[in-house]
Amino acid sequence: MTLDVAAVRAAYPALADGYAYLDGAAGTQVPGSVIDAIGDAYRSGLGNAGGVFPASIRSSTVTAQCRQAVADLVGGVADGVILGPNMTTLTYRLAGTLARAWGPGDEVVVSRLDHDANVRPWVQAAARAGATVRWAEVELPAGELPAGQYDSLLSERTVLVAVTAASNVLGTRPDVAEITAKARAVGALSYVDGVHATPHGPTDVATLGADFYATSAYKWSGPHVGAVIADPGLLDSLHPDKLEPAPGTVPERFEQGTPPFADLAGVTAAVEHLASLAGSAAGTRRERVLASMTAAHEHEQALFQVLLDGLGAIDQVTLYGKAPRRTATAYFTVAGRTPAEVASHLADRQVNVWNGHNYAWELTGLLGIRDAGSAVRAGLVHYNDRFDVDRLLAAVAELAG
Ligand SMILES: Cc1ncc(COP(=O)(O)O)c(C=O)c1O
Repeated sequence: MTLDVAAVRAAYPALADGYAYLDGAAGTQVPGSVIDAIGDAYRSGLGNAGGVFPASIRSSTVTAQCRQAVADLVGGVADGVILGPNMTTLTYRLAGTLARAWGPGDEVVVSRLDHDANVRPWVQAAARAGATVRWAEVELPAGELPAGQYDSLLSERTVLVAVTAASNVLGTRPDVAEITAKARAVGALSYVDGVHATPHGPTDVATLGADFYATSAYKWSGPHVGAVIADPGLLDSLHPDKLEPAPGTVPERFEQGTPPFADLAGVTAAVEHLASLAGSAAGTRRERVLASMTAAHEHEQALFQVLLDGLGAIDQVTLYGKAPRRTATAYFTVAGRTPAEVASHLADRQVNVWNGHNYAWELTGLLGIRDAGSAVRAGLVHYNDRFDVDRLLAAVAELAG
């Protein structure tokens, strides 16, 4: 199944502004259907959840629908979907909860490929518990996170392995299934950061072997809502801090305060949108999501090759990372220009890209570029087209020439 990119783009009102949106890795635009779902939720009347009147019941329904939608996107069951403001907040919450059982002698394994949101919460929780942190290293220049190293990193002392499903700057997709299998073999839990990976292809939490899988809807055409997906049985064994009158049920007891109900309706609409990308109405939503995300992956990878070839043909450009399995995310510098200058030049040409470390703190330090402004990130998502890529290449060539 292929993706009709013109039809996809037409669904996104913001894309009509003339800019090439190559900043999707920091947050995508949202389709009209998501904007409408949020507006419609407010228009229909929303009460706080737990009441007996229709507006309150609507909020509870919206929440239940959102959990099911997230479960359909990544695999898993609705009762295992924890919703929250973003991945960072949820990860801090889970790190604090899990670390209660840790003590001296326990070990936590993090990686230098990860966004800091899947590093620091674990490092800080381990320090408070007196546990030891061990680091999985990135192999340069490829930017790979070899799974084999986990054999010597893990032992019966390991309590948790935190690893990303894709680097948010290099795009590298480590062999998560192999890493989580090694973790399971020593009795450790795995926490997989799927924030960058989720929008770029089909996801199945069970195949990844992730005990916890974190994702953020604003990276996949939705509003600013985060989610962590886990087995409800596992969640049942954990007891986060919570208010006395707040629900003690799973997954609700992991959610603090009143959720943004209208945004949750937007998350469901975003999953519906992703399910429709390949244009088929046949099958369950989960089946349509898998078909659509496969089509999105193929579309992005074909365009990524054009982007990589084009940047590779410009002598002044240095590209970072070349893992064979990676998302369509280019991270590069231009000789004689700071990343901020490159991004400003591109902005003048109506091309949106990011410059800087993008919170890939350990990795940019390891690459030795962090102090010099790191690099420029141009990322592709399903709504980017050849014109976006050509504009970026022309603008970089102009700068280099
Ligand atoms: C790979 C990755 N992990 C985690 C995060 C943090 O996500 P959030 O903004 O939902 O806290 C990001 C955000 O850019 C990311 O790219």
